[in-house]
Amino acid sequence: MAADREIYPGSKKPPDHESIRRILDLSTTGEVQKTFQTAVHIKSREVGTGIYLRGIVEFSNICDNNCYYCGIRKSNRRIVRFQMSEDEIVAISLKANRQGIGSIVLQSGERRDKKYLDMVERLVRRIKKESKGKIGITLSLGEQDEETYHRWFRAGAHRYLLRIETTNKRLYRKIHPKGQSYNKRFQCLAALREIGYQVGSGVLIGIPGQTTDDLAGDVLFFREIDLDMIGMGPYIIHPQTPLAEEARDHDQKVQLDLGLKMIAACRIVMPDINIAATTALQALDPLGWRQGIQAGANVVMPDITPGKYRKDYFLYPGKDYDLGNTDPVAYLRFHLGDISVNIVPFKWGDSPHLKKSNRGFNH
Ligand code: 5AD
Repeated sequence: MAADREIYPGSKKPPDHESIRRILDLSTTGEVQKTFQTAVHIKSREVGTGIYLRGIVEFSNICDNNCYYCGIRKSNRRIVRFQMSEDEIVAISLKANRQGIGSIVLQSGERRDKKYLDMVERLVRRIKKESKGKIGITLSLGEQDEETYHRWFRAGAHRYLLRIETTNKRLYRKIHPKGQSYNKRFQCLAALREIGYQVGSGVLIGIPGQTTDDLAGDVLFFREIDLDMIGMGPYIIHPQTPLAEEARDHDQKVQLDLGLKMIAACRIVMPDINIAATTALQALDPLGWRQGIQAGANVVMPDITPGKYRKDYFLYPGKDYDLGNTDPVAYLRFHLGDISVNIVPFKWGDSPHLKKSNRGFNH
């Protein structure tokens, strides 16, 4: 394919560190657009043009962690903490399913107490049972021990998202307090895969002190650990966090562009996996989702958390848009414009990569 050859001239070899970094460093509009076109071309060939949906339920902002970038960190006393009831979470999931959302993501602050772990297990079982197995469940509940991951898998969750945040260990230490370690995070990803989850990960893009060399390393890491899914987004300054001061020179447009180039690079390096256009893109630009899809993403994750909680799930500014009573699929159609014809409602949307590896669940 002519377009592929422009990225790695004259050979079929997948891009190496240097060529990925070159993509991330592109600055002229023409070159960037050409790279996006290449990524979209590869996407259409390998995974098709369909846009798959995951409805995200952010069911609690109570968190035991203290990540320096995140607004719901434990030490932030300026937010109201909430926990949705199990009945509410089940009802929202079933309603979204009727509206066309085939798979949901349950996300919350990180907790490891027994009450919470039991609650999640019950929740997964109930959503499975009450949707008659129709709803696919992804968990995004942070670092847990292997036994917990097993329990939740047995209860019916089949995908897990856990971002590595950055693969530069020095940077990892800089943005996390002592006690949160890169190695632990990595071990969790390995355990999830071993148990049989479809595993997704991702990074924060444009952290103060992060270089395009670091990000190229992140992309190669994703390929090395053979991810099924990628969900990553630009870092956005949250004023009530320790990292904010250091990031004050950040330019939103630069952050957005880097986020889009990361999507394109990941698509070129990992042609047949699921890549999400994440909420952070949309928080930076009203056309963020659309641009993400046009840079190579094939998944969008509309937030289906009720409006009254959404403002308190304040990881970073700009993500508190309110759906009101609009149904999530109609909302997405509005935001995606003409490309919304490619939305594939009701499906779980497993990646061809997963099917090839024989770990698929046939939905
Ligand atoms: N900007 C962008 N993304 C953030 N996250 C947390 N804080 C921020 C921020 N300030 C992301 C982290 C985490 C995910 C749930 O939210 O990458 O893994």
